[in-house]
Amino acid sequence: MKHSKKEKSPMASLRLAFVLLISLVSPTSSCTQQEKICLLRFLAGLSQDGGLAASWRDGEDCCEWEGVTCGTDRAVAGVSLASKSLEGNISESLGSLDGLKLLDLSHNSLSGCLPRGLVSSPSIVVLDVSFNRLSGALHELPSSTPPRPLQVLNISSNSFTGMFPSTIWESMENLIALNGSNNSFTGQIPTHFCNGSPSFAVLDLSYNKLRGSIPRGLGDCSVLRVLNAGYNNLSGTLPDELFRATSLEHLSFRNNELHGVLDGAHIINLGNLVTLNLGRNNFSGKLPDSIGQLKRMEELYFDRNNMSGDLPSALSNCTNLITVDFKSNKFSGELNKVDFSNFPNLTTLDLLYNNFTGTIPESIYSCSKLIALRLSANNLHGQLSPKIGDLKHLAFLSLAFNSFVNITNALHILQNCRQLTILLIGDNFMAELMPEDDIIDGFQNLQVLDIGGCQLLGNMPF
Ligand SMILES: *[C@@H]1O[C@H](CO)[C@@H](O)[C@H](O)[C@H]1NC(C)=O
Ligand SMILES: *[C@@H]1O[C@H](CO)[C@@H](O)[C@H](O)[C@H]1NC(C)=O
Ligand SMILES: *[C@@H]1O[C@H](CO)[C@@H](O)[C@H](O)[C@H]1NC(C)=O
Ligand SMILES: *[C@@H]1O[C@H](CO)[C@@H](O)[C@H](O)[C@H]1NC(C)=O
Ligand SMILES: *[C@@H]1O[C@H](CO)[C@@H](O)[C@H](O)[C@H]1NC(C)=O
Ligand SMILES: *[C@@H]1O[C@H](CO)[C@@H](O)[C@H](O)[C@H]1NC(C)=O
Ligand SMILES: *[C@@H]1O[C@H](CO)[C@@H](O)[C@H](O)[C@H]1NC(C)=O
Ligand SMILES: *[C@@H]1O[C@H](CO)[C@@H](O)[C@H](O)[C@H]1NC(C)=O
Ligand SMILES: *[C@@H]1O[C@H](CO)[C@@H](O)[C@H](O)[C@H]1NC(C)=O
Ligand SMILES: *[C@@H]1O[C@H](CO)[C@@H](O)[C@H](O)[C@H]1NC(C)=O
Ligand SMILES: *[C@@H]1O[C@H](CO)[C@@H](O)[C@H](O)[C@H]1NC(C)=O
Repeated sequence: MKHSKKEKSPMASLRLAFVLLISLVSPTSSCTQQEKICLLRFLAGLSQDGGLAASWRDGEDCCEWEGVTCGTDRAVAGVSLASKSLEGNISESLGSLDGLKLLDLSHNSLSGCLPRGLVSSPSIVVLDVSFNRLSGALHELPSSTPPRPLQVLNISSNSFTGMFPSTIWESMENLIALNGSNNSFTGQIPTHFCNGSPSFAVLDLSYNKLRGSIPRGLGDCSVLRVLNAGYNNLSGTLPDELFRATSLEHLSFRNNELHGVLDGAHIINLGNLVTLNLGRNNFSGKLPDSIGQLKRMEELYFDRNNMSGDLPSALSNCTNLITVDFKSNKFSGELNKVDFSNFPNLTTLDLLYNNFTGTIPESIYSCSKLIALRLSANNLHGQLSPKIGDLKHLAFLSLAFNSFVNITNALHILQNCRQLTILLIGDNFMAELMPEDDIIDGFQNLQVLDIGGCQLLGNMPF
């Protein structure tokens, strides 16, 4: 054993022996003083530390501090302080932790800006500061910044403003997911990572203030699975190039100002789609036949647009449908073109405010998982089928504002729908006589009943 000069005193030797003993017991040394300083600077920047100070004590190995994890080399590898009621600023000093791979500060009340050194850290792989009160713009990075390991950046649900600086993405060639939703970002949807980050798979920029048209560059995002830009102020049409992003599984442009006709020849390229949400826009024209080739489709939203024409029978081929929401459009024609018995998993069908005609197709009653069925404000007629009793899970039924007849029949059938909690059948059964039964049983779970606007005659059954 080699002793240095200043450790020759017996006290120093004892201390050294102690240190050696410790390192024999646990084969690793503690985190470095430099790491402690970085972490304590972060702590000092907090105005409310959620009790961290009790555990983050200078005298102890910071690998043992609350929320801190170290790698096998005892370098600080993770700082996970989600939901700790932290307030104050995020210190740039965290960016100096050489081995830091995961930084999770989500669900706190941290404010100020996101330090540049974190986004451009040479070690951080996952950076999650979602659900805080961070503000300001994302900083530009020097164009000479070398490639960064960042894979997941979640800055959602803060108060960030400004445009996405293009230089940030140039060095982010490992980026997989960017969640910037629920901020106040402006400008266009950024697309740099479509070319620069070969693994880029998830982009969520919903609930911002983005405007302008949908950039053609998104078509180069060849492995993009999730694209959510709903609740912005995007305008124009869906560019042809978008349909080159053939890996898309979840696509939402809900609540923008988009318009145009859905091109059947293009939509079939997105055969991996599981959810498509184009609700609350200004799309018009027919639902293309080729929609039937999107066989993985589970959730289809076209509500609150200007769509017209029949529902194509090809829709019957989307056998995995769970939710169909076409309310508030100008669809018309008979519903029995669609074979609803092909949708064993359908739970929600909403066709409110359209111009469908004919009777309710019998095939709907095979959708045994149906929970909510709304056909109100159309031009449907006929009597209810006893088969509606097959819908054992039906909790919400609205048939109002159509031309259905025979209220006696309707109530006799619906009394058997045991899960029914909301029943809206008003503005039908015009001037009919109420059933003459003294008692109508059933309706065990009914909470809301609307039979207004029918000008019914007779007595209300007890
Ligand atoms: C720290 O936070 C305060 C508000 O909480 C803010 O005014 C200040 O600019 C922040 N400082 C930095 C460096 O982000
Ligand atoms: C932040 O986003 C990433 C990627 O989408 C996700 O894995 C993570 O769970 C999100 N964090 C929170 C707190 O939701
Ligand atoms: C993005 O974050 C929000 C919360 O801020 C969350 O609701 C959403 O699911 C996330 N998006 C993705 C694609 O993970
Ligand atoms: C947006 O962020 C605020 C504040 O964090 C949160 O209360 C709200 O639920 C978020 N909204 C969405 C749609 O995620
Ligand atoms: C959306 O953009 C249009 C112009 O393209 C503008 O007139 C409108 O005010 C914007 N709406 C919102 C909510 O920002
Ligand atoms: C749809 O277009 C009409 C007419 O151009 C316009 O008045 C309306 O605001 C638009 N709606 C949406 C949601 O963009
Ligand atoms: C709605 O669709 C009709 C065609 O069905 C079209 O003439 C009209 O311009 C569309 N309205 C808007 C606002 O796009
Ligand atoms: C459903 O798809 C099959 C082949 O995948 C096709 O032959 C058939 O015509 C389609 N059905 C409808 C109603 O389009
Ligand atoms: C329906 O849901 C079940 C269970 O989630 C699933 O196994 C099945 O593939 C789905 N689709 C069809 C068409 O049954
Ligand atoms: C609804 O359809 C009927 C019959 O097809 C037609 O006479 C009527 O004009 C349509 N109404 C609207 C609002 O499109
Ligand atoms: C109305 O329904 C009742 C009970 O289901 C049935 O007996 C009666 O014949 C129906 N009335 C008409 C006009 O179809």
